[in-house]
Amino acid sequence: MVLRSKSFARYIFQNQHKLIQQLLQTQQLQIRLCSGGSQQIQQALRVEEDDMPKISQAAPVAAPFPMTLEHAPDVGEQFRYADLSVRLAAPHELSPKPDTDDMAFGKYFTDHMLKIAYHKRLGGWQKPEITPMETLNLHPAAKVFHYAVELFEGMKAYRGVDGRIRLFRPNMNMARMNITAYRSGLPTFEGGELIKAMSRLIQIDSEWVPHTESASLYIRPTLIGIEPTLGVASSDSALLYTILSPVGAYFKPGSGGLKLYANPNYTRAWHGGVGDRKVGSNYGPTIHVQKEALKEGCHQVLWLYGDQHELTEVGVMNIFMLYVKENGERELLTPPLDGLILPGITRDSILRLCRQWGEFSVKEQKFTMTMVQQLAKEGRLLEMFGAGTAAVISPIEHIAYMGDEIHIPTESHQAPIYRRLYDTLTGIQYGKIEHEWAPVIA
Ligand SMILES: Cc1ncc(COP(=O)(O)O)c(C=O)c1O
Repeated sequence: MVLRSKSFARYIFQNQHKLIQQLLQTQQLQIRLCSGGSQQIQQALRVEEDDMPKISQAAPVAAPFPMTLEHAPDVGEQFRYADLSVRLAAPHELSPKPDTDDMAFGKYFTDHMLKIAYHKRLGGWQKPEITPMETLNLHPAAKVFHYAVELFEGMKAYRGVDGRIRLFRPNMNMARMNITAYRSGLPTFEGGELIKAMSRLIQIDSEWVPHTESASLYIRPTLIGIEPTLGVASSDSALLYTILSPVGAYFKPGSGGLKLYANPNYTRAWHGGVGDRKVGSNYGPTIHVQKEALKEGCHQVLWLYGDQHELTEVGVMNIFMLYVKENGERELLTPPLDGLILPGITRDSILRLCRQWGEFSVKEQKFTMTMVQQLAKEGRLLEMFGAGTAAVISPIEHIAYMGDEIHIPTESHQAPIYRRLYDTLTGIQYGKIEHEWAPVIA
């Protein structure tokens, strides 16, 4: 008996670490079971039809993406503009405004920001608040830092020739933001309420909207997953915020067109991926390629896809090509929204304007580098340009592609289409052309 208890004691000493581990595991299991965690895990693993957003069939046929998206049932409470609170910056907190010439993209920020927190355990979206511009205080485990659970939008406020401030098709940005949120496992929200809250922010910082047609106020709504847990799972806490930055014009008439670097070894997006969503993780990996383009004496990257080297986007812009068909008629092409292309709001506006003009055919169709080379050789390539909120329209002059230097005569024509589009779009944005696309907010 004595012998037996001695060997038992020895066994305990030799194996105490294993026993402690087992004990802890049992306790953890109990804690998880008590807190209903196992149920949550089971729920998370179950993909139910009911959780999928219902895409409204009422969306206009020509819309590039669903304009309305029903919230998943578990999103909870929505935020309302009516609940907005405002805490103004003290006079000593106000920043000096930069000169228009010094407005490098995204370098200066206005005095205030908009913040809206989301916490599932508190019932959903919380009340929106405008505060002085300030740093965020986030846990180092926040999902945004580890898995890039993040998305953003790029919009602008323009001070028109009449002194009034306008946005440009803001509901399209909201729709794009919501479909991106859904794809990122982040909570969706009422776009109209965010537009109202952002408009109030712009009114408060209205003196930051440049008093010139050669600049504007860039609006950066951002949604990040802030739940401080390392699981690769949807974030139960999120922060939707908006910051504002005065920016100068990208494109200066007469300054020459873009030189593009087209290297088929790199790709920006792929089928089934998120190239058509505005997630931050689409942008970080492009920085190295952009540096390579600069080293090669080019301004921007021309993103190609697949064995046929299809043209997809240029830098952070959609791409367009105007050419002469074999029958002598002109045609404008842009790649279709097949998942590789960000559904640009400028892209959609250009397509609509050109179709209204009805002067040449307009197609959303794939085109390849072989086609570009061939058209350039035959003198049938007229114009190529990039289009996006930041630059509006950027003419393309040259493509460096696998040892070939392709010249595009975009700027050599009397009345180029790109220039007419630029004038029409900026005319609408700066209030020279009355248009439903540019709602006045102040
Ligand atoms: C990859 C990419 N393509 C195209 C665009 C142009 O889109 P939009 O016209 O909505 O600014 C952007 C800018 O948002 C972009 O980031």
